Amino acid sequence: MKLKGVILAGGTGSRLHPLTKITNKHLLPVYDRPMIYYPIETLRDAGIKDIMIVSGRGHAGGFLELLGSGHEFGVNLSYAIQEEAGGIAQALSLTKDFVGDNKMVVVLGDNIFEDNLTTTIETFEKTPIGARIFLKEVEHPEHYGVARIEKDKIIEIVEKPKQFIGNLAVTGLYLYDNQVWDVIKNLKPSGRGELEITDVNNFYIQQGTMKYDIIPGWWADGGESIDTWLEANNLLARRSKTSIPQNIEVIIKETTEKVVKETMKLMQSHANQTMNDYSSKYRKIYNEQEEIKSPEEIKSETKENPFKNIVKDEDDVPFDINNYYTKD
Ligand code: G1P
Repeated sequence: MKLKGVILAGGTGSRLHPLTKITNKHLLPVYDRPMIYYPIETLRDAGIKDIMIVSGRGHAGGFLELLGSGHEFGVNLSYAIQEEAGGIAQALSLTKDFVGDNKMVVVLGDNIFEDNLTTTIETFEKTPIGARIFLKEVEHPEHYGVARIEKDKIIEIVEKPKQFIGNLAVTGLYLYDNQVWDVIKNLKPSGRGELEITDVNNFYIQQGTMKYDIIPGWWADGGESIDTWLEANNLLARRSKTSIPQNIEVIIKETTEKVVKETMKLMQSHANQTMNDYSSKYRKIYNEQEEIKSPEEIKSETKENPFKNIVKDEDDVPFDINNYYTKD
């Protein structure tokens, strides 16, 4: 079984009017590329090859023209059309045949993630049942679905809460097992007349099979408002200017090895130098020492000058017996 990717890129984009009056918001630029490129890259970077894009009727041609078969990204793209805006969960239901018996990674077309989510997605793939979501602390939780967490346990998700229940927004990337189709079938439209993805998530929470992660990197919902779209542009502009190379770990390893090697060389050469200094100093001291004399030689010398061998050093004052006896 393979994980399938789904990108939901429908909706009217009314929050970005007039920018989205004649185009779909997911085709708007975010820094140097169309918004839809980012979720494709997120899925591709997580190793997902088969991806279906769901878009509204009016702009489907634009997506096809822009993305084609997905060859340019190294993925296989398929397309589905959502005839009328009926909510995220309704759009997802259109991908049932495409996903087949597989599990899926669903990402909203306006969500941009800094983090590579591969490890968590791989862990999910091995989990027998359930769902998984990604949370991010935000300044304005009232604009998102928000998770109520108690003692590290997720209790519920409230869509656009009017009262403060926490600041962990539910980002638009969801991992689901195959139960999701039954869940969607039994959903009732919300107050805004849509099948809400939050209701799908709350089903898994109540079932006790919802897991969550809090993502460390930045996250942008480019379609939430004109301000978040601008913020997404700025974040990506900054990232591209301070971009960390993909092979950063290899670079760090190689640099560290080089530094350690050079340091060892330097230490070795200092150690050699010190050894040389010491050995030449001691060689000198050794060479300057008087010859070791035999007891006979010492005896005969002592006869001539009984105090000769008491003199220890050139600097010592020679012993003079006269200093110790008064003449009288
Ligand atoms: C949707 C979801 C919401 C989630 C958000 C993330 O909101 O309903 O729970 O927090 O995406 O981008 P929408 O953008 O449809 O208002």
